[in-house]
Amino acid sequence: MASSLSEIEFRLFKTYIKDKCGIDIQDDKAYLIETRLSKLLVDSGMESFEALYNLIMSNRDPYIAEKVIDAITTNETLWFRDQTPWKILEDVILPRYIEELRSGQRRKVRIWSAASSTGQEAYSTAICIRNYLEERSITDIRPEQFEILATDISKTVLEIARRGRYDAISIARGLDSKYKERYFRKEGMVWVLEDAIKNAVRFEHFNLQNSFVFLGKFDIIFCRYVLIYFADTLKQELGKKFYDSIESDGIMFLGASELHHCLEPYFERVHYANGTYYVRRR
Ligand SMILES: C[S@@+](CC[C@H](N)C(=O)[O-])C[C@H]1O[C@@H](n2cnc3c(N)ncnc32)[C@H](O)[C@@H]1O
Repeated sequence: MASSLSEIEFRLFKTYIKDKCGIDIQDDKAYLIETRLSKLLVDSGMESFEALYNLIMSNRDPYIAEKVIDAITTNETLWFRDQTPWKILEDVILPRYIEELRSGQRRKVRIWSAASSTGQEAYSTAICIRNYLEERSITDIRPEQFEILATDISKTVLEIARRGRYDAISIARGLDSKYKERYFRKEGMVWVLEDAIKNAVRFEHFNLQNSFVFLGKFDIIFCRYVLIYFADTLKQELGKKFYDSIESDGIMFLGASELHHCLEPYFERVHYANGTYYVRRR
């Protein structure tokens, strides 16, 4: 019989989770740890949360830390989430980048989906770019000139993303039928993403708490619906890290309902067509 979470056990897990993923679980949200880890508690055969914690710390089960991350992270995502980032890409950003690629002022465009979950955000971007070029019969610019990196702390969501295979429920969430017909094929109950879109995105395991230096510089960063889970100190650090890893004219997208003061010293907020994007300050 699984036990309930004591105050001491809550403190142990709160510290562990903050340390591993940066996620800050408030003191009045102990139930989150209890509900999200209760299945792991049962599956592991441990009799208390303290025993589960000790198992994690003993390194006896190499996968247990991954399972805690999977249980604690919120992986909610959908296709073209909020819609406005892709409208802004089409109306404002892509025309400029395409001109710069044409004139030789720029060799490629680097895009980072910094908490990609199961891939919808990065693949929506790849679809948007390919569709933009196809609909305008642009053939002198190749989709491969847009390099898309997608990262997440959860290896499980990355595995799903890399497969590019989605069930009908995931597909129904935000994907226009035009794109579904054009870029997916149906295999039984599964919608399989076309190779050209799948190969346009590289998925890597990455913890946002780590140094960004080896990732190189980006022109566009999507960091959506993840900062909300972090403590203020980590958010402050990330504001500076994003600033340092984005090109001087680079832009960032946050979730539509997000407002993070940590970005203010580094990025200027620009409103466009009911949406918002952030331009790096010089
Ligand atoms: C709610 S999803 C957002 C997905 C996508 N950006 C969107 O807006 O639809 C948040 C993702 O952040 C990831 N995440 C949480 N903490 C992280 C960390 N420290 N480093 C990298 N990714 C993290 C989670 O695994 C999860 O997949």
